[in-house]
Amino acid sequence: VDSDVARDLFDANAETYDRANTIVSLGLDARWRAWTARRAVDRAGVRVLDAFAGTGLVGLRSAALGADVTLADVSPRMLAVAQERADRSGVKITTVVADLTAPGPTVPGSPFDAITLVFGMRYLDDPTSVLRGLLSLSRPGATFVIVDFVEPDGSPLARLAAVYFFRVLPHLASALTGHRELYRELVATTHEMGPAERLVSIVESAGIEVTEVHRMGFGLVCGIVGRRS
Ligand SMILES: C[S@@+](CC[C@H](N)C(=O)[O-])C[C@H]1O[C@@H](n2cnc3c(N)ncnc32)[C@H](O)[C@@H]1O
Repeated sequence: VDSDVARDLFDANAETYDRANTIVSLGLDARWRAWTARRAVDRAGVRVLDAFAGTGLVGLRSAALGADVTLADVSPRMLAVAQERADRSGVKITTVVADLTAPGPTVPGSPFDAITLVFGMRYLDDPTSVLRGLLSLSRPGATFVIVDFVEPDGSPLARLAAVYFFRVLPHLASALTGHRELYRELVATTHEMGPAERLVSIVESAGIEVTEVHRMGFGLVCGIVGRRS
């Protein structure tokens, strides 16, 4: 997706994004995000870039664990929601409006010790080159934590989850938020992403050494931990 299109789409959905997230995941997203922050923050003061940060649902958790967090996103309105939440909860963060798909991205505060990228991969036309751009913002040995929706495997629970996700959810979420387009996009991009193995191979092809693959959400969500070698 073109970065201008992404910005307009997420700017328009910023106010309802968090509520829709809870609907999409039946409230399970809090666990996925907590897992991500725990993997990214191994000590207080670690410098974390939350890339494609949105409303800061992951970045603020990392900050609460003691990290020095920068949130980068192309949508100023998503970042404004994140900043409001940080101010309300007394958490200190830095926000940066940036197109992270542009070649040679720059984000003040780099090189980072860890980079989180949650629910941002599916939208990318060239995910490998975007990951390479993020690698250039990290220090050697940096931790990467990448989480996204994938097509589930064939287990009975996964099949049930897939019916909810692919058939029920787009109607439910668009009825509750009024933003049909975003949920159509969610389902279409998850199909395009394919199975977890594909996400893992994209991460590896960017030059990140994968150390852990963690399936969540009845197989619909894949979490990958890796290291910049
Ligand atoms: C589905 S949201 C995920 C937000 C957050 N990481 C989360 O876990 O809730 C995807 C985010 O990627 C951002 N985004 C899309 N294209 C981008 C780009 N080219 N550069 C930076 N951010 C982008 C959107 O603005 C949106 O906030």
